[in-house]
Amino acid sequence: MHSDKTIPATSNIGSYEERAASFDWSVAEAELGWSEGDPINIGAVCTDRICEQGLGAKLALLWEDSHGKERKYTFDELRVATNKYARYLQDIGVSPQDRVCVFMDRIPDFYISFLGILKLGGIAQPLFSAFGPESLVVRLQDADTKVALTTMRHVRKLRKIRQDLPNLETIVVVDCPDVSKLKEGEVAFSLDAAEPVEEFEAYPAWRETPSVLHYTSGTTGKPKGALHVHGSVIQQYISAKWVLDLGPDDVYWCTADPGWVTGTSYGIIGAWANGVTQMIYDGGFSSEAWYKLIAKYGVTIWYSAPTAIRLLMRDGKELAWKHDLSSLRHLISVGEPLNAEAVIWSEETFGKPFYDSYWQTETGSIIITNYPGMDVRPGSMGKPFPGIEAKVVDLQTHEPIDEPGRVGLIAIKPFWPSIMRGYWNNTPGYFSKFDRGWYLTGDRSSIDADGYFWFVGRDDDVINTGGHLVGPFEIESALLEHDAVAESAAVGTPDKVNMEVVKAFITLKPGFEPSDDLELEIMNFVRKRLSPLAMPQVIEFATTLPKTRSGKIMRRVLRAQEWGEPIGDISTLEND
Ligand code: WT7
Repeated sequence: MHSDKTIPATSNIGSYEERAASFDWSVAEAELGWSEGDPINIGAVCTDRICEQGLGAKLALLWEDSHGKERKYTFDELRVATNKYARYLQDIGVSPQDRVCVFMDRIPDFYISFLGILKLGGIAQPLFSAFGPESLVVRLQDADTKVALTTMRHVRKLRKIRQDLPNLETIVVVDCPDVSKLKEGEVAFSLDAAEPVEEFEAYPAWRETPSVLHYTSGTTGKPKGALHVHGSVIQQYISAKWVLDLGPDDVYWCTADPGWVTGTSYGIIGAWANGVTQMIYDGGFSSEAWYKLIAKYGVTIWYSAPTAIRLLMRDGKELAWKHDLSSLRHLISVGEPLNAEAVIWSEETFGKPFYDSYWQTETGSIIITNYPGMDVRPGSMGKPFPGIEAKVVDLQTHEPIDEPGRVGLIAIKPFWPSIMRGYWNNTPGYFSKFDRGWYLTGDRSSIDADGYFWFVGRDDDVINTGGHLVGPFEIESALLEHDAVAESAAVGTPDKVNMEVVKAFITLKPGFEPSDDLELEIMNFVRKRLSPLAMPQVIEFATTLPKTRSGKIMRRVLRAQEWGEPIGDISTLEND
């Protein structure tokens, strides 16, 4: 199905074809008012710069939580609040390039401290608040994090691992009602109680100065810390303007958590660099609550994810139609394949389709996407962002494929402003992402004759559950710690809402027999070690696991079974 949409004259991008044909990054730099050689500090770009444009009194943040508590910040208040964080962190000894993690729910302090860290030149390390101690410790050890910002609700998880983090100097609790509740090495900071800091001279970062460290899961080993730089804002700014179509009168809602890259690149940086009012909701998913928020705040631009859309679909169109959603003007999705059905449903329900966008933690910004006004081909991810050269390359040789419809790996020509500049402590891992002059995404796709990309799947064993990547290695490691488990393999199994969920196959050590009780015991055992996302929904006892002749477990054989797909080349299988 093709929906015939002409390009609205009012969209920021205008004609995609024209933009793409004449684009080079200096266009984006000029739009942002930056020239080569000038310092560029994301914290200042998102706050001080907006106030200098005379927008200090404009609302930057409309915040609400699930209890109905509300807060509002203007850009000037945001500027002063981020200054407070920058000054405070400086006072407690944070120096430029020190890693400071932000480990909290979606409270205003998350967004504000993130920019405060950047203002003083520190490296912000956002962490998802649902992470348990195990997920936290690997990320904090790897990054050698100096200061952790958190809340009373989450501090206990840090306390559990404190002895394993000798270089974590200070834990700052930002909502501590009473300092007697704190332990050694913990301090209280209150944004509201802190003296206003009218002026703070932002650290004069240049475009290559490290800014944000986001951890992402791979197939093997520990999560990898993708390191970004201050110059990324050039691309986040222009893509937020052209893809999300953010403009002066918009109320924008990015539903992603800032523990993940969408929540920072577009839930903080891209939006505020454009001087746009954001609504942020700190609460779980509920179709009803979400529609109420859209109506209440008059949300115009909505950036969400396929899992959320599938949940909305489950609750039906009628529920949507009970609310006044007429403010919605542009809808965009990211994180997982957006199936054609969801695009069509949204068109029928909201009168406009969700526009798919594709990118990764490593790419820092949207790479392939549909543009406002562009013909949406439901099920397609769209076309490369202007200035991005993207192709598919042969799965083995990595030679570009020109034939329409043939599946290959999505490859992007380095470098673009927001690409990661390395994996923290993992240079070999970083170099392994490049070959023959391409950055390899690890995703499979084809390109049709008109240049639209059609996602096929990941080329590795990483599980994408509800838009969150989970490495099989971390799940398998947790399972192997249990006394009864001899071998384990974690794969994605189909799920109506989350696209896939984790399923674990295990073999048992001699002396152990499969039983429901044992399954439950193992589940409870790994629950303590894994974040809820990574938790297997099912554990299946197996007598053997498919392995290569060299003894490597072939997860893709198990995965293919789960999906009812052909198993593919199993010539290296041990027992064939
Ligand atoms: C992986 C990156 C970048 C924002 C959040 C995820 C998958 C992302 C799409 C899409 C199909 C998608 C890919 C990618 N992915 N967007 N539109 N269609 N798959 O960042 O956690 O680094 O995950 O998510 O597999 O490699 P991330």
